[in-house]
Amino acid sequence: MHRLIAPSIRRYWLACLLAAAPLCAFQAQAPAEVYRPSIFPDRIIVNWTEDPATGFSVTWRTTTQVTAASAEIAEAEDGREFAGKARRLNAMTQLYQTDLGLAHGHSVTFINLKPSTDYLYRVGDGENWSAWSRIRTASRTAEPLTFIYLGDAQSGILPMWSRVIREAYAHAPQARFIVHAGDLINNALRDQEWGEWHQGAGWVNQMVPSVAVPGNHEYGRSAPEEERRLTPNWRAQFTMPANGVEGLEGTNYYIDIQGLRMIALNSYEKQQEQAAWLERVLSANPNQWTVATFHHPIYSTAQRRDNKALRELWQPIFDKYRVDLVLNGHDHVYGRTRPVTAADEASGKAGTVYVVSVSGIKFYELARKGVFDRVAEDTQLFQIIRIDGGRLSYECRTAGGQLYDAFELEKRRGRPNRFVNRVPRTPERLRPPKAVE
Ligand SMILES: [Fe+2]
Repeated sequence: MHRLIAPSIRRYWLACLLAAAPLCAFQAQAPAEVYRPSIFPDRIIVNWTEDPATGFSVTWRTTTQVTAASAEIAEAEDGREFAGKARRLNAMTQLYQTDLGLAHGHSVTFINLKPSTDYLYRVGDGENWSAWSRIRTASRTAEPLTFIYLGDAQSGILPMWSRVIREAYAHAPQARFIVHAGDLINNALRDQEWGEWHQGAGWVNQMVPSVAVPGNHEYGRSAPEEERRLTPNWRAQFTMPANGVEGLEGTNYYIDIQGLRMIALNSYEKQQEQAAWLERVLSANPNQWTVATFHHPIYSTAQRRDNKALRELWQPIFDKYRVDLVLNGHDHVYGRTRPVTAADEASGKAGTVYVVSVSGIKFYELARKGVFDRVAEDTQLFQIIRIDGGRLSYECRTAGGQLYDAFELEKRRGRPNRFVNRVPRTPERLRPPKAVE
């Protein structure tokens, strides 16, 4: 086509393009602009209450102009009439300050809902409303249950972590919650990173409740002499069950869901107090299955890392009450044990399976240990865990969805779980060996 255009005209166009180039040179948009709140609800996220059969919470953000926020809920219908039947609840609103300015965090907890029922909810201020989102309450009794687990997001959150949570959802859209094992962001005091995290998860956060615990990176300080504190975003944007240790609100709690007791611990502070709490929560546990999540690993996967004090404090309790599975983060390199106890880390015949994983793009070097059945370096991963009666199946997949690791646990009356290793016959993903000089 361009052969038809005379060379002189082509030169003229080229000159025009070059002259206009400086006008087209875009500058990076300032984070304060990109992540500015508006009166329209954003960062909408759901969390379970202590009893997911009858309640859940929703939390969202606006500018400080919105002082009378509310949420509406109705049983789901496929036509539009449900909206007219919705009931409205006023939100609890808190002011919080980040490096990008002031915002309002709004929160509503719905209670007295019907079990195993689809609901539609929306949030707003009476004029500006979010879309209606569907959420299904849990059943009252043990039922098949699927959930997702993600290790540290932390780095490359919007550009590269977002694909992992989307892939996880695509593999398990029926998941009843997503475990985030800490270090959701890198810098506790940068609101931009929280903006990326919410944007990266998108509407998944509006449909699948998060079971999140903080890592060390959720604790920050603005001066070296200050003590590190939990990011102001945490309590402003999550509404967790209030059944944990006093002072650890939103970071230490448990939920009972369809035959599983899901325990969230804060491994950054008050470990001793949580040991006593853990004893209480595990000694009166009517559920067949128990899973715990917290940030710092019992079995470290990274070089030069070991949480000996935490292991000596909490592992005997996991052993005593036969906790089935522990999900950790922090080490940025994947490792999954067979069932182990403090006394027997080799046979795989009894104890807890421990996993360390990473979903973002910050990676450390593996410290290989005999306790791990499967490891991976430099790989973004997600996990899908399914419980059906007396069987738990675990799948670990790469960012692209390939199966990388798997095992099953089977309950046996009065005996430890039967463990079946299902590691696929694919090579371990490891860094190339360093060249010897
Ligand atoms: Fe981390």
